[in-house]
Amino acid sequence: MKITKAIIPAAGLGTRVLPATKAMPKEMLPIVDKPSIQYIVEEAVASGITDILIITNRGKGIIEDHFDRSPQLEYSLELSGKAEMLEQLRAISDMANIYTIRQKETKGLGHAISRAKTFANGEPVAVLYGDDVIIGEHPACGQLIEAYDKYGLGVVGVKEVPPEDIHKYSSLKVEHLEGRIYKCTDMVEKPDKDHVLSYFSILGRCVLPPEIFDILERTKPGVGGEIQLTDAMRELAVTKGMTAVDFEGVRYDMGNKLGILKATVEVALNHPEVGQGFRNYLKEISQTL
Ligand code: UTP
Repeated sequence: MKITKAIIPAAGLGTRVLPATKAMPKEMLPIVDKPSIQYIVEEAVASGITDILIITNRGKGIIEDHFDRSPQLEYSLELSGKAEMLEQLRAISDMANIYTIRQKETKGLGHAISRAKTFANGEPVAVLYGDDVIIGEHPACGQLIEAYDKYGLGVVGVKEVPPEDIHKYSSLKVEHLEGRIYKCTDMVEKPDKDHVLSYFSILGRCVLPPEIFDILERTKPGVGGEIQLTDAMRELAVTKGMTAVDFEGVRYDMGNKLGILKATVEVALNHPEVGQGFRNYLKEISQTL
């Protein structure tokens, strides 16, 4: 079955980026001139997704507004002859069918995903974490969908992380299959040093088969008292196996301050409007470091 639905969980509290995220969702933090969630929606659309459910919570209405039409602004741009910007703005609201649902209680990523059961309606779905922006020529979500189409198993997007950081992420038991694809038969969330399975960790993307929703219903709170998506996916990995794709593309963690700064600098350097000026500025300032 062709995957056309995606879920973007964006209901986290974003405590690592406070106070910026006190009233503004971290998914709306810009990288140069676009909110990070727009990069994520664009990646989903470039991967063949037509319907996107964004999981939100209180105070995240501006995410909905961002993907809505903005008649007053459009009218003003039309009057002032800013045709290119007008077209860009309209394209944002026309990209995909965007739906939202509130998580109501922040009980963890697994709990957030479980809210999407009705939306998924028995179909496999792609999941793009709302604070993980991945930039690359070949959309990361599409790379995972290709693996789903080929192997018919749930898929996780992975990268190797530095050994000293593995306790902050998940750790996967993997065997190489071909190219950038591995078979995953076990996983653990935020392992202590005796339970590390490998330094491959799930970073920001997965494709989930329909049975994940029944598993999530019986998944008990795990690390941090939260219902962990990794714990639910572990059941899939252990019973049927999953595939893991070491995706091409650079991933930026928009959930922490250093990640936001790296994304800003690297995207700005390649930006058609400000790239050259920013490069000159960086060269100049780097001499004083
Ligand atoms: P994080 O683990 O980064 O959690 O969530 P967080 O609460 O947003 O951030 P900190 O740790 O307080 O700084 C990973 C993804 O899961 C979503 C987040 O929005 C983010 O996209 N999430 C997390 C939910 O949608 N609901 C939750 O209950 C938890």
